[in-house]
Amino acid sequence: MRNRCRVTKGLENMAKMEVKTSLLDNMIGVGDMVLLEPLNEDSFINNLKKRFDHNEVYTYIGSVVISINPYRSLPIYTPEKVEEYRNRNFYELSPHIFALSDEAYRSLRDQDKDQCILITGESGAGKTEASKLVMSYVAAVCGKGAEVNQVKEQLLQSNPVLEAFGNAKTVRNDNSSRFGKYMDIEFDFKGDPLGGVISNYLLEKSRVVKQPRGERNFHIFYQILSGASEDFLCKLKLERDFSRYNYLGLDSAKVNGVDDAANFRTVRNAMQIVGFMDHETQSVFEVVAAVLKLGNIEFKPESRVNGLDESKIKDKNELKEICELTGIDQSVLERAFSFRTVEAKQEKVSTTLNVAQAYYARDALAKNLYSRLFSWLVTRINESIKAQTKVRKKVMGVLDIYGFEIFEDNSFEQFIINYCNEKLQQIFIELTLKEEQEEYIREGIEWTHIEYFNNAIICDLIENNQTGILAMLDEECLRPGTVTDDTFLEKLNQVCATHQHFESRMSKCSRFLNDTSLPHSCFRIQHYAGKVMYQVEGFVDKNNDLLYRDLSQAMWKANHSLIKALFPEGNPAKINLKRPPTAGSQFKASVATLMKNLQTKNPNYIRCIKPNDKKAAHIFNEALVCHQIRYLGLLENVRVRRAGYAFRQAYEPCLERYKMLCKQTWPHWRGPARAGVEVLFNELEIPEEEFSFGRSKIFIRNPRTLFKLEDQRKQRLEDLATLIEKIYRGWKCRTRFLLMKRSQIVIASWYRRYAQQKKYQKIKSSAIIVQSYIRGWKARKLLRELKHQKRCNEAATIIAAYWHGTQARRELRRLKEEARNKHAIAVIWAYWLGYKVRREYRKFFRANAGKKIYEFTLQRLMQKYFLEMKNKMPSLSPVDKNWPARPYLFLDSTHKELKRIFHLWRCKKYRDQFTDQQKLIYEEKLEASELFKDKKALYPASVGQPFQGAYLEISKNPKYKKLKDAVDEKIIIAEVVNKINRANGKATSRIFLLTKNNVLLADQKSGNIKSEVPLGDVTKVSMSSQNDGFFAVHLKEGSGAAGKGDFLLSSDHLIEMATKLYRTTLSQTKQKLNIEISDEFLVQFRQDKVCVKFIQGSQKNGNIPTCKRKNNRLLEVAVP
Ligand SMILES: Nc1ncnc2c1ncn2[C@@H]1O[C@H](COP(=O)(O)OP(=O)(O)OP(=O)(O)O)[C@@H](O)[C@H]1O
Ligand SMILES: [Mg+2]
Repeated sequence: MRNRCRVTKGLENMAKMEVKTSLLDNMIGVGDMVLLEPLNEDSFINNLKKRFDHNEVYTYIGSVVISINPYRSLPIYTPEKVEEYRNRNFYELSPHIFALSDEAYRSLRDQDKDQCILITGESGAGKTEASKLVMSYVAAVCGKGAEVNQVKEQLLQSNPVLEAFGNAKTVRNDNSSRFGKYMDIEFDFKGDPLGGVISNYLLEKSRVVKQPRGERNFHIFYQILSGASEDFLCKLKLERDFSRYNYLGLDSAKVNGVDDAANFRTVRNAMQIVGFMDHETQSVFEVVAAVLKLGNIEFKPESRVNGLDESKIKDKNELKEICELTGIDQSVLERAFSFRTVEAKQEKVSTTLNVAQAYYARDALAKNLYSRLFSWLVTRINESIKAQTKVRKKVMGVLDIYGFEIFEDNSFEQFIINYCNEKLQQIFIELTLKEEQEEYIREGIEWTHIEYFNNAIICDLIENNQTGILAMLDEECLRPGTVTDDTFLEKLNQVCATHQHFESRMSKCSRFLNDTSLPHSCFRIQHYAGKVMYQVEGFVDKNNDLLYRDLSQAMWKANHSLIKALFPEGNPAKINLKRPPTAGSQFKASVATLMKNLQTKNPNYIRCIKPNDKKAAHIFNEALVCHQIRYLGLLENVRVRRAGYAFRQAYEPCLERYKMLCKQTWPHWRGPARAGVEVLFNELEIPEEEFSFGRSKIFIRNPRTLFKLEDQRKQRLEDLATLIEKIYRGWKCRTRFLLMKRSQIVIASWYRRYAQQKKYQKIKSSAIIVQSYIRGWKARKLLRELKHQKRCNEAATIIAAYWHGTQARRELRRLKEEARNKHAIAVIWAYWLGYKVRREYRKFFRANAGKKIYEFTLQRLMQKYFLEMKNKMPSLSPVDKNWPARPYLFLDSTHKELKRIFHLWRCKKYRDQFTDQQKLIYEEKLEASELFKDKKALYPASVGQPFQGAYLEISKNPKYKKLKDAVDEKIIIAEVVNKINRANGKATSRIFLLTKNNVLLADQKSGNIKSEVPLGDVTKVSMSSQNDGFFAVHLKEGSGAAGKGDFLLSSDHLIEMATKLYRTTLSQTKQKLNIEISDEFLVQFRQDKVCVKFIQGSQKNGNIPTCKRKNNRLLEVAVP
């Protein structure tokens, strides 16, 4: 059971997350009041409250939107919300102002129907905000592009400008619109905005000169003083201090949460976007400044001789500044404040003004100046935003007009406003009923008559041309003789006495004679929204809206193009003695035009409701709301809507929503939707009187029926959810099982593969072993055969070689024999020939002539030899090996001897050039050669190296200063050597010093002397015959230095060191130092003798010999 609950909840949550398809989904209370059951005031208010508490500020009555001011920003106007409501049907989503805007925009665009959006409600109910939301929604969803965006921006930016000049803080609303506004937005056939036209109605201009307690003047005054720069203020001759201006109510000059300075910047920016030129903006602010300064002009009484009262301006400074600002001649304005000229026919009569009249004139001027400026602003904005093309436009009108007002003291303004609301109510009734009726006809449903209150009778009471209150007032205003508010009331009492909606104490009708709630100076009208009592005082004046002609003429004379334009009637050339139309008649005319305009359009209603009087969020004052519901006639609205059928819906969405309730229609109905709905309703056994089939919609008479359907749907959805859950679970288990099965097959196959692989590996390795044995056996067999064959071949080759050798030797012997024979023959033949020649020539020579010839020849030859030798002498370099070839065999030994002598001679010559030092070096080199040549493999490499001795420059390096100081003898060798550690064969760097008497070893880093051995104690130096620098210095046993044992060292200059050591020892001790060259020698380390053995090592470490300790008694040096 618990599981079921959880699942249902989960499904509900899922449904919440789902895209909505009807406003009936997840509804809080009822989204459409038409569905309210039971329908009465309490349930109506409770439903609104419930929804308000859940932040649902919008509720429908059919297609009318009720909007409750949340007094806080809700996250329901985001771009995402715009997207959500875009192109969705009205009842698809929760009630929202965007749904209405979308519906209006789409029927404008797609069905070519002009639209109007009528926003009503009392002050602070959120009309202006609603109108801005509608505009911004339409701007967001309509076409895009640079031009279109500019139009949109101008339309939207007209709002801040008009709000700054036409809105003010009142006790009801911090941003109360003090004028009525109707804006036509014009679109092209694609639905892209082209421009707009704004109409304004009755600005509350009395606010300019006087504000009720706790209220402010129009925003713009405070914005200029807070936001304008010092420079600009100076230009306008204004000061920042509010208290300097009589026209500014001070008790709430600052409004919480409103930054006037920032708003001023917004307004200027908006003016720029809308298209105001700089000089225009400047002129506008000059007029505002002039109005503000007008309030500071004060008058004092002055009696004249003729007894007439006269007034005088107290301080002319302010007047002077106003005139400078507006370019009016100061004397002209001053006179206009003091005199009044009345023109009748050709006569002109001038009368002086007393103080009260002067003040009246001043205030009338200020009010007129401001209200005309406001109208000019609207005209100027219209000029900017008007559509640039002449093509036919589609129009959407947005009406943000003051709602019904009932105050404690109601005056002319409230009368006018409430009249306007009566007219709006009438149009609302007319259009709503008309639409309802049209829909029934369109759908072919029988029209049932609906009872409703028609307020035409009240409209007639006010606007009737003969007997209407407005006509009465105009008549009074125009009548010659004394006219007061009381005479007006008397007139009303006579004419309207019998009207059932007019109430007055003094009327002929005695009904109200004793009604004490109705004062004598008041009359009461039963408006459709309730009874309102009007104070008659001020009606005549306000209706007259009088401005003395002297003032309008003074204004026209101003050297200020804007002010001049605001007072065209001041032009003496166009003087018009006819009275201007009264405020009442003007308003009546503009309302009539507005109504006419609205009647041509498809209406969309937004009824704004104010939840509390505190401008606070979360507070729902039921009494206040109840009052508004009553006078807005909302219940009546619901009843009218429900009089026929409470609910209607197109067949497709209806079938889609309820098809699961019937087997024939679930899950798919394959016929027309209407037939499907018929089958569905028959199946559900809904009584026939409860519904009607229209052409495209089903009409449900009672909300109860709809809720029953909804309940059944909910139940069915739960059942379906269970079914879906069941199927889903089955599917899930099946899928899981199949998955596991598949997985099992995969695992099994992998395992089999693995097992087979292992088996195969085993077989393979066994096969390889067997194979290798066989191959080995075969190879060995083959090898044996090959070896045998090779041996045979070799034997054959050896035999052949021996045979060839024998042959060759035999041949050689033969050839030698032959050569010998030939030679013997030649010698014998030569002797024979000599003998024959001698025998022949003997007779020609004396006895020893032969000998002389022989000697002579010999001498000549010798001479020739020496002369030739003189020319062929080689260079004097001792290393020059050249020597001329021997010319005669008999001079062989001479030639050799000569070569030797010559060499010795040139060596001597060479030696003779030597300095003593060079001689010493060569002596040393010679010594080295004698000691090591052909004995030590290192020797040849040392021959080319000069013996430097002091490799370390001890005396120059400051590091060795101490060492230098310790050794006072001449240093023969100073060099870094490696001292081999017996323990591990590792080397440590030491400085090796050889002086005339001592051998010293010192620390390389510190220069501290480690050992000092007199040369007499050095007995022997051992080294290997190989190419290494290791050598041992053996010390005399029992000598002082021998305590630590012999030194085993290695040096890069071994040959030089050994030679110098040898020579120094010889010269000092007259004894030859024993130099043992052997690849194995013993070194005495303290008590032990260790054998150092040199072996031929690898070239692993390059050419460096490495020393390793093999054991206690053996150090092994590997020489590469
Ligand atoms: N939808 C809304 N969301 C949040 N705040 C709102 C909304 N509507 C109105 N308000 C708040 O209520 C205030 C009054 O609203 P608005 O000025 O629209 O009233 P109004 O009906 O035009 O009054 P008036 O007749 O005096 O001009 C606004 O300044 C704003 O603070
Ligand atoms: Mg407003």
